[in-house]
Amino acid sequence: MSENKKTYKRITTNSLFEMKSNNEKISMLTAYDFSMAKVVDKAGIDIVLVGDSASNVMSGHETTLPITLDQMIYHASGVVKAVKRALVVVDLPFGTYQSNPNKALKSSIKIMKESGAHAIKVEGGSELKKSISTILNAGIPVMGHLGLTPQSIYKFGTYSVRAKEKAEAEKLISDAKILEKTGCFAIVLEKIPANLAKKVSKILKIPVIGIGAGSSVDGQVLVLHDMLGINTEFSPRFIRRYMNLHNDMTQAIKKFISDVKKVDFPNNKEQY
Ligand code: KIV
Repeated sequence: MSENKKTYKRITTNSLFEMKSNNEKISMLTAYDFSMAKVVDKAGIDIVLVGDSASNVMSGHETTLPITLDQMIYHASGVVKAVKRALVVVDLPFGTYQSNPNKALKSSIKIMKESGAHAIKVEGGSELKKSISTILNAGIPVMGHLGLTPQSIYKFGTYSVRAKEKAEAEKLISDAKILEKTGCFAIVLEKIPANLAKKVSKILKIPVIGIGAGSSVDGQVLVLHDMLGINTEFSPRFIRRYMNLHNDMTQAIKKFISDVKKVDFPNNKEQY
């Protein structure tokens, strides 16, 4: 793939559409706070996702279900303050949109107003058609999410690969088409066979961003703490670890402790 890409001062939903048309892959990472978001944005990422994976990564919950709307807004407002170029997308957390379109709209407006984010993401297909169009009618861009949708983990029972069987694959393709037709500006496909993801990406005109969905989609997303190796307990095959920050941080902290104990820190230059 060519590295000769158009430069964007600010990424919008239109830029993403343009990138897909120009065969330029889209990069997306999560961030949940000001400092990390600043690094990620300055490095040139296209989309920063304030994912509800914050429930696991930042709060230590076993699933994404417990995180609240106010907690998502807290994370998102720090991220928005740091980001100058990327598109900031925020997950609508579990229980804040599934029951009816008005609730979905109210939750989306609260996120946009109180965090300053640029778009929201929802997990699900045809069942969300009315909610998505209600949110879009208020001028809020919506990203979809199909395949392994962690908010439904208790329905699935496991985090294993989704849509391996024909019926589920056909339903996923039909849902993807509905999400595009309803007006989503992009969709995430999580943990599905690469061939199926390739097919969806070919059928849709909107960008398809994959996580554990192979290389033939329009972009890739990872959880920042996984790819930096801060979080080492979660190791599905789709994660590439670019660093082992858990080790590096542990070594640095151990050195600090030892310096303090030895009265080697602070030295003469590090005091007034
Ligand atoms: O919450 C999240 O981090 C996500 C990504 C895994 C796509 O939804």
